[in-house]
Amino acid sequence: MDNDLNGESQTVSIRLEGIHKELGAQHVLRGVNLEIFSGETIVLIGASGGGKSVILKHITGLMRPDSGRVVIGNQDISKLNEKGLAVIRQRIGVLFQNGALFDSMSIGQNVAFPLRERGEKNIKTLTEKVTKALSLVGLEEHINKMPTTLSGGMRKRVALARAMIAKPESILYDEPTAGLDPVSTGSIDSLIIQMQKEYGITSVVVTHDMKSARTIADRIAFLRQGSVYFCGTPEEMEGSDDPVINNFINGHPTEEL
Ligand SMILES: Nc1ncnc2c1ncn2[C@@H]1O[C@H](COP(=O)(O)OP(=O)(O)O)[C@@H](O)[C@H]1O
Ligand SMILES: [Mg+2]
Repeated sequence: MDNDLNGESQTVSIRLEGIHKELGAQHVLRGVNLEIFSGETIVLIGASGGGKSVILKHITGLMRPDSGRVVIGNQDISKLNEKGLAVIRQRIGVLFQNGALFDSMSIGQNVAFPLRERGEKNIKTLTEKVTKALSLVGLEEHINKMPTTLSGGMRKRVALARAMIAKPESILYDEPTAGLDPVSTGSIDSLIIQMQKEYGITSVVVTHDMKSARTIADRIAFLRQGSVYFCGTPEEMEGSDDPVINNFINGHPTEEL
């Protein structure tokens, strides 16, 4: 459970052990091993179509490994039934790729959704919590607006408020800054850092944006050919003399996947 790194004892929050997954004709994950420490922000990079979203789906139990284990806290979730998974999912907030707000619900209703699902019915409590979550992302004035009236960056911030409202232990972000302008990207990066600093949330962030990765990551994991090829601090990655790593981070991939 505990690992002694630089003299500090760190608790493993999420552990992927030898995960294999075939999807269709593809052997997408080929022995993924990764330990994610409690309170750290780990950034997952790798070629498009390489299996990053598939890894996040294993962490929430949306996909089950063909072999290997997904351990959350000290529980192997690979074998849990839906009821057991529902309990685990309460501890993990997810910011899906493409935001995925409910367009027929107001911003406030969207953010309240995870609490309502959990059975919270008290309007005063809901309003208070929703207002607080929205103020954290700077959008409390927009509580009654509909998602389609907001910009892409604002929608991502609403999705983040929704992901964190139930105070999860971890938040998984699937390309949270894709398609955003640099200013909106900066505000999402700052919020990810704030979630960590103020709430001690463990974050797993999939991104293509190396600038974001350097800004937010405690460690960067590089997925290549179905397994974690490298995992280390941004400094360790920058300082690497491995051409495979350098080509990837400098945006000159010389190979597919
Ligand atoms: N539900 C699925 N059924 C079949 N193939 C899938 C499914 N989900 C993902 N894949 C395939 O697995 C590979 C990895 O996908 P993904 O994890 O989405 O990549 P990325 O690293 O870009 O997030 C892709 O080739 C994708 O087409
Ligand atoms: Mg993806």
